[in-house]
Amino acid sequence: MAIVEKKWSAPPVPFAMEHADRVPKERYFDPDFFRVEAEHLWPRIWQMACRLEEIPAPRDFVEYEFLDQSVVVVRTDDLGASAFQNACRHRGVKVAEGRGSCEQGFRCPFHGWCYGPDGANTAVTQRRTFAEHNLEPGDIDLVPVRCEVWGGCAWINLDDDAPPLRQCIEPAATMLDEWKVESLRTEWWYSARLPVNWKLAIEAFVEMYHVVQTHPQLAIPGMRYSLRDGAAFDPRRFIDAEIEYLSVMCDGMAGMVHANDVRVAESLRDTELPADPALAIATWNRTLNDAVMSWHRDRGADIPDLNELDTQGINLSFFHCFPHYFVLPMYSSASSYRFRPLGPEETLMEIWSLTRFPEGEEPGKPTPPEPWEADDPRWPPIPTQDFSNLPRQQRGLHAQAFEYMRLSSGLEGHISNFERIIDGFLAGLPHERLLPALGSVNVYPFDKPIADMGF
Ligand code: FES
Ligand SMILES: [Fe+2]
Repeated sequence: MAIVEKKWSAPPVPFAMEHADRVPKERYFDPDFFRVEAEHLWPRIWQMACRLEEIPAPRDFVEYEFLDQSVVVVRTDDLGASAFQNACRHRGVKVAEGRGSCEQGFRCPFHGWCYGPDGANTAVTQRRTFAEHNLEPGDIDLVPVRCEVWGGCAWINLDDDAPPLRQCIEPAATMLDEWKVESLRTEWWYSARLPVNWKLAIEAFVEMYHVVQTHPQLAIPGMRYSLRDGAAFDPRRFIDAEIEYLSVMCDGMAGMVHANDVRVAESLRDTELPADPALAIATWNRTLNDAVMSWHRDRGADIPDLNELDTQGINLSFFHCFPHYFVLPMYSSASSYRFRPLGPEETLMEIWSLTRFPEGEEPGKPTPPEPWEADDPRWPPIPTQDFSNLPRQQRGLHAQAFEYMRLSSGLEGHISNFERIIDGFLAGLPHERLLPALGSVNVYPFDKPIADMGF
């Protein structure tokens, strides 16, 4: 494979991806690199700020924090969402904290300035004591932040020049819409405080290369991933292995494969499959998709035609909405991840288990989780395995003689593509040049090769 070299020259990006298959270690701990990201990346991108079930009713609000910024997201009367910067226009106190209803608007706790649910200033206490120039209409309203709703979530962006959300997360947006991602609801929500850089945390979840070593329980003899050319194919063994895989994923991953779907698969154990492996796999996929759809439709849940989704099947795709949000669908349900930097070597990772409920039976507002440490014994086996590598990797990167990661250009292309788009942001490239590159990260089969970013 040809190595794609970077093509832009200025302004310089510290510790840039000079070679597409080598990631300089400093990108994961250098305080200056972290500062450049804080200045040039995070204020320019769409961030998943909350799930809509956190703000189900008009005028419900949540505070979304990233780096040193706090943004308030409010459910609007038309069940969209709006957002503003969380700083009183008088002396900067945050007007909102946590979550709640702003039916009465917001009253600043310091001197009592008031704002409506739309952020407009509605009262200045002892108004006559201020000069007119400090009371300019508009200037004393809370500063609006761009906010859009997609995929069951509210998203914010501090950059007025950024393209609309949907353009920035294509083709994931279209494919996930076809899968009716918006009708998923939170079954549970966990969070982890990881002692690693945010990109290191993300990159632990974007390749299959680590699976055999890190998650040996997922290498199940007889299943599709273990089929080798020329090996004898046993349809019975194949079904058993597929069901075992789903069950291990369900217990171990928590959420990604839903227990309801595993039970549906169990009921198909005696399905007759053709002897030809390719035909057998296709038949099994179709049979299981049909059974999962029927099970959910019979109880009144909204589910798309899983057999009409892309040729590979929704179950083999990971969706990355650059840079910090993931949806990992399997049959009816999904895991979803969000990553936020807390410092150069500390990350908050959240995991949602999302599934479909009959209308009217959706669970209530999800409770925000207390972050667990990476080694908390409550983590299921698969995150436990991933989380056990991460702190060791962050420590290892500091080794004096370690210069850069050496990526497999066949198996770890996603990491290269992701890092090089970050460099595009850090170089201050205009959005129209970044947009085509985003498409190479926002959806991928596993083992995506290194792509030409066009810059
Ligand atoms: S800082 Fe908000 S009223 Fe003074
Ligand atoms: Fe893993």
